[in-house]
Amino acid sequence: MSKETLTITDNRTGKTYEVAIKDGTIKAMDLRQITTGEDDFGIMCYDPAFTNTASCKSKITFIDGDKGILRYRGYPIEQLAEKSTYLETAYLILNGELPTQSQLNDWTHTITNHTMTHENIKKFIDGFRYDAHPMGMLISVVGALSTFYPAAKNINDAKVRRQETERLIAKMPTLAAFCYRHIMGFPFAYPDNDLSYTGNFLNMLFKMTELKYKSNPVLERALDVLFILHADHEQNCSTNAMRSVGSSQVDPYSAVAAAVAALYGPLHGGANEAVLRMLTEIGSKHNIPDFIEKVKGGSGRLMGFGHRVYKNYDPRARIIKETADQVFEVTGRNPLLDIALELEKIALEDEYFIKRKLYPNVDFYSGLIYQAMGFPVDMFPVLFAIPRTVGWLAQWEEMMQDSEQKIARPRQIYLGYDERDYVAMESRS
Ligand code: CMC
Repeated sequence: MSKETLTITDNRTGKTYEVAIKDGTIKAMDLRQITTGEDDFGIMCYDPAFTNTASCKSKITFIDGDKGILRYRGYPIEQLAEKSTYLETAYLILNGELPTQSQLNDWTHTITNHTMTHENIKKFIDGFRYDAHPMGMLISVVGALSTFYPAAKNINDAKVRRQETERLIAKMPTLAAFCYRHIMGFPFAYPDNDLSYTGNFLNMLFKMTELKYKSNPVLERALDVLFILHADHEQNCSTNAMRSVGSSQVDPYSAVAAAVAALYGPLHGGANEAVLRMLTEIGSKHNIPDFIEKVKGGSGRLMGFGHRVYKNYDPRARIIKETADQVFEVTGRNPLLDIALELEKIALEDEYFIKRKLYPNVDFYSGLIYQAMGFPVDMFPVLFAIPRTVGWLAQWEEMMQDSEQKIARPRQIYLGYDERDYVAMESRS
């Protein structure tokens, strides 16, 4: 019978070691025993971008990147996008099971009743310049919420964690909408508790002088589907930031602010914004071959393409493409869609992209929908941050309950100078 172990021979010493394999993984700390002598620290793993390192055990999201599979708590993303709502999916991600009707009613009631924020929040949003990027504003405002809820520091109290989780999920749309209204120069619109999660968000964004805002049901549902698709994605850059910062035992508002900051980057949640700018810059289908050649030549990237884990079509991108058709029936076709479709066609037939397994990811088509719905490009990553908040918090909760987790503190390979003496100013060359 085969043994679940790995035998390692250190050719420096000729010694052999046997380390356990569990869940297809060896423990990095098991390598520490491999030394050349007493003064040797022991072998470490070098993995600068965690490309082959599991930093946690998780039961939340499953991805098979080769097959293009994504599941939350075992449920395929396609089924959730078709049959669930964002709030129901958020409940599932947090609690591990789909809610009963009464659990869903209670959950919806709780989230709906935490949507207001302290009035002072509006004051410091007002302090930002008229052209401030809403992600920069969101990072600050979410972080600032920790000062309004000092009890959030009690992160070892499960009840406190739950309450702050509910507050964050409920308030993110309000904060995001306030940031948007500020850059647009509109007065803030307050939450309307009669509306759904996404319906209320659209209300806070787009309400003008009407007494009651009513969103288009197709657009409201499209946004809800987009929120479901963005709710979690296991150990991506921003989730890693959430877990890493949260592992210092800081309050969840500060950790979510760090996660939003990680999401802001163009290689992560900022990619949807970058795709739109790229499509606008390409401008016409005729310019695509030149653009592709530039990318292949190493000048820039085809934004919205490629993924660390998916080496097949991102299943979220497929669903978004279908959602785009429904949205464009209401809003009219986004003229950039033709450029995107042609770009995708050419890229999928091109040896460069085939060889590297580069396929459209979630961000390739989402921006086209957001633009058609009337969002300015700067708001796109914010529309990623709102639904991802539940993923960050579920991962944080899982970490808090995991006795194997400690403060995140990687090692380094020091390649700098050995000890040397301080040189007086007059002796320096
Ligand atoms: N366009 C052109 N070439 C690319 C691209 C791209 N979008 N992505 C990767 N490559 C090339 C890269 O140059 C490298 O080529 P070579 O082997 O010749 O050096 C090879 O493919 C492997 O790339 P990598 O950078 O080692 O791959 P990674 O796993 O570190 O990066 C990625 C993943 C998503 C950061 C990258 O594919 C990328 O920059 N994509 C564009 C930005 C983007 O769309 N990001 C959104 C990701 S999905 C949403 C989310 O989770 O945030």
